[in-house]
Amino acid sequence: MTKWKEIDRNAKSWILEAGQRIKQSFSKTLTIETKSNANDLVTDIDKNTEQFFIKKIKEHYPDHKILGEEGFGDQISDLKGIVWIIDPIDGTMNFIHQQRNFAISIGIYEDGIGHVGLIYDVVHDELYHTIRGNGVYLNDLLLPSLQEVQVNEAIIGINATWVTENKRINPLLLAPLVKHARGTRSYGSAAIEMAYIASGRMDAYISLRLAPWDIAAGIILVEELGGIATTLKGEPINFLENNSLFISKPGLHQEVMNKYLNEGNW
Ligand code: IPD
Ligand code: CA
Ligand code: CA
Ligand code: CA
Repeated sequence: MTKWKEIDRNAKSWILEAGQRIKQSFSKTLTIETKSNANDLVTDIDKNTEQFFIKKIKEHYPDHKILGEEGFGDQISDLKGIVWIIDPIDGTMNFIHQQRNFAISIGIYEDGIGHVGLIYDVVHDELYHTIRGNGVYLNDLLLPSLQEVQVNEAIIGINATWVTENKRINPLLLAPLVKHARGTRSYGSAAIEMAYIASGRMDAYISLRLAPWDIAAGIILVEELGGIATTLKGEPINFLENNSLFISKPGLHQEVMNKYLNEGNW
């Protein structure tokens, strides 16, 4: 078995086990804390889940590094070697308020290149997974490559924040895109939005500020299927810092960059 197949097999079994543990927590009372502001929530389950992965990874792969949202992993200053980028629960607000529309996200990189990507939508029992170069699967189903689509037929994932007054972007920049698209959606989990591009349920996703763990797995999945991921200014993504993100099917990416996000419009 190749190195990545073995790592993928372990990661899959751990993500499914972690999902079971999260489901079991539904009947228990959550401990909820706030982080940077009153709406930035974290629970004991986010923390326990991250620690669960760290224990498994350190046992099996002591030389791998881990970048996790809740900070139990390593301090990472570069992407040399094998780095697991983990969001134990992406969509914590949904987890707390809805008990659905959240996912576990794991991207495994070597020297900055994504090799294994997994997103597990726990409640729907949908595991999106890929080993670079081997196609993307939704559970056991091999997903087809992404086909070109135009704005007027596209469903675009975007949070209403970015078309109302905010401190990151002039809302007038994205408003025409929202108007011309076939429709918009907001699921409240970056990982799920990107998994939905992979499975064809959506065509693109836009956010002005995401952390490496929000996007590490989703980008591997979407790129494996021929999709494109850049910042909103068309720059490459840096997995060591926060980025804006425009990720989409081919064709659509170019159309949006040319007509809506071109330099002259900023
Ligand atoms: C959040 C979700 C959300 C996105 C936020 C993220 P978290 O992640 O992905 O969709 O809009 O920017 O922080 O905190 O629930 O893991
Ligand atoms: Ca969070
Ligand atoms: Ca997240
Ligand atoms: Ca999280």
